[in-house]
Amino acid sequence: MAALEGGVAACAVSSGSAAVAMTIMALAGAGDNFVSSIHVHGGSSHQFSGLAKQMGIECRFVKSRGPNDFAAAINDKTKFVWVETISNPSNMILDFEALSLVCHAKGVPLICDNTFGCAGYFCRPIDHGVDIVVHSATKWIGGHGTTVGGIIVDGGTFNWGIHGERFPQFHDPQTKLWERFTRRAFAIRCQFEVLRDTGSTLSAPSAQQLLIGLESLAVRCERHAQNTAEVANWLREQPLVAWVSYVGHPDHPDHQGALRYLQRGFGSVICFGLRGGFEGCARFCEALKMVIIAAKYVTPFSCVFTIVICFDSLGDAKTLVLHPASTSHEHISPEDRAEIGVTDDMIRLSVGIEHISDIKADFTQAFEQILEPGEIRQVEDRKIQLQKEINSRLFSPSAHL
Ligand SMILES: Cc1ncc(COP(=O)(O)O)c(C=O)c1O
Repeated sequence: MAALEGGVAACAVSSGSAAVAMTIMALAGAGDNFVSSIHVHGGSSHQFSGLAKQMGIECRFVKSRGPNDFAAAINDKTKFVWVETISNPSNMILDFEALSLVCHAKGVPLICDNTFGCAGYFCRPIDHGVDIVVHSATKWIGGHGTTVGGIIVDGGTFNWGIHGERFPQFHDPQTKLWERFTRRAFAIRCQFEVLRDTGSTLSAPSAQQLLIGLESLAVRCERHAQNTAEVANWLREQPLVAWVSYVGHPDHPDHQGALRYLQRGFGSVICFGLRGGFEGCARFCEALKMVIIAAKYVTPFSCVFTIVICFDSLGDAKTLVLHPASTSHEHISPEDRAEIGVTDDMIRLSVGIEHISDIKADFTQAFEQILEPGEIRQVEDRKIQLQKEINSRLFSPSAHL
């Protein structure tokens, strides 16, 4: 992974969420802060505003894309700046090079969650001034949605030596991480200190599955990119589709950023708006036969209970859809959701490597179904209600105290 990302060392961990949490713990402590784009994965935003806060670490969210706004949020207690390659799910690409200049001028590292960059296949942020990269390996790296894992890659670019006052953990007289390991000091801190303390180890069978996944990464990503471009164009022609957000489209606001920072294609996640809003989206997801709902309804014991497993996956070989407003982002207020572009009518689509005609056929039959309200509607209304109830329990602030 370090080689694929152009880094100097890496640390494999038990999940992408563990990679995010461990990176925070490696760099910040009570009384510190960090700066993050508001356009991050729902789980990360939950960690930033919940877990980090519990540890006494403040996350300063930046709403705009302007490097000056990030600069203004940094002070002498700031330990890093956090962005995503193509933000999940708002499909925003920030200007890494400009942000890296700002961060380095202020003496803090720039960190990128490069999950959507597919292990360096579509994007190598370290080549563009990013210092540390994290991944949810659960997605394209494993590639089949069977294995949970995470990776932290040290770019070896940040000089912890000249910023000793801000980062005393690299200058502890006992461990002397900077003196002994220099460019690999951050990875070593993750491997031998944070991993040891948190126990977020990647299990050996999971590591094996992820390595098998990596063997086919390039072939899968090539097909992901082709299918995604074709589906994005096709969706634009569908009468039920109100809008499509795909960074490969020349009229996407971040298409220039995509041309600059992505290679070999424009990734494999797009979002689209469905006429019919919140309810129409939920009904559309349920009507799909081949395409899988990433946040699923399952009936583990009997048909009496329907519970929602909100694992919010993407990057599988199989095409996955998600209705963020009712699942991954349900814990965020409608106003804040609107701020990060998660509208009620938004479907997030992770395009798989199936034959393109199978994907289109499944979508076509689902579009046809949601045109006719029938009995199915009552069942789905009930499911939406249950989903909301369960999510409000799962995601309510008190659930995490
Ligand atoms: C961008 C991003 N980062 C981190 C995560 C968390 O990863 P994991 O599910 O492996 O814990 C996800 C999960 O969806 C993600 O999309």
